[in-house]
Amino acid sequence: MGKLQRLPDRHRTSLAGGATLASSASPAAAITVRGLGKAYATSAGEPIQAVSQVSFDVAVGEFVSIVGPSGCGKTTVLRILAGLVDGYVGSVSIGGRVVHGPTPDIGVVFQDANLMPWRTVLANVTLPGQVLRLEPKACRQRARELLALVGLAGFEAKLPGELSGGMRQRAAIARALLHDPRILLMDEPFGALDAMTRDAMNVELARIASQAGKTVFLITHSIAESVFLSDRVLVMSSRPGRILAEIEIDLPRPRNLDVVADSRFANTVLHIRRLLEQTGGNPRVTLAH
Ligand SMILES: Nc1ncnc2c1ncn2[C@@H]1O[C@H](COP(=O)(O)OP(=O)(O)OP(=O)(O)O)[C@@H](O)[C@H]1O
Ligand SMILES: [Mg+2]
Repeated sequence: MGKLQRLPDRHRTSLAGGATLASSASPAAAITVRGLGKAYATSAGEPIQAVSQVSFDVAVGEFVSIVGPSGCGKTTVLRILAGLVDGYVGSVSIGGRVVHGPTPDIGVVFQDANLMPWRTVLANVTLPGQVLRLEPKACRQRARELLALVGLAGFEAKLPGELSGGMRQRAAIARALLHDPRILLMDEPFGALDAMTRDAMNVELARIASQAGKTVFLITHSIAESVFLSDRVLVMSSRPGRILAEIEIDLPRPRNLDVVADSRFANTVLHIRRLLEQTGGNPRVTLAH
């Protein structure tokens, strides 16, 4: 896909992250998290500790997944990385810069597609280009290519309300890739997809990530999906979420779906499931579920 030209930008500074180098961040780290803790206040005003003492790194070009029981704070970690949540303790940096807000270095796919209902699919996918003031014609071209990539060619002029949930989620993935971010943060991006489409999207994501050299941080409830896609899987405890274990996925790349028949794959899935069982979580094991 063609390179996008950035237009002269009056607004860019408001999108750019801070410029301070985190003291303990390694130069090759795309993401560095140290001692992260976050407490929310409930509607009754009670504090609720979502995550506590979370530390990890994601190297440039690495694919790291995070699995953990529902409510253990995975989305909280991702939203902090995306610069969307403040009031936390610890330090978080992206590309060596302390996170102070959203930055164009990252593309985010949330649990819900979050498309604007009044904009066409194409206009939704080109939205980051507008925000970042990228050249509109190249943006539309890239958006069409990405929509074809996620199987939505022919749906460019539809409104989100005319799509299925899975199709909306695929449009959201195309939108996250529009500005060619170096880092993708994905929160259960395939949860709404049917099993066959989810398998296909897993293969596609693996291809995009390795060919384009993307760094990916993925939240998933599917242990098999995490093992299939990742270089490393972080296992979180129940709330307040902590990193219980980091599992290196020692399976050769490129991987295709046949890898599920490999005993190393099955053993790794089982190992992670056992860890999660200790947390009292209810992990799903089968690929695409
Ligand atoms: N804005 C908020 N205000 C108050 N509490 C919140 C808020 N967001 C999350 N929480 C609480 O923080 C905890 C962690 O939530 P979070 O969404 O990060 O979990 P999760 O691991 O992503 O869960 P799931 O797997 O179900 O998506 C939960 O107990 C949740 O109720
Ligand atoms: Mg979540």
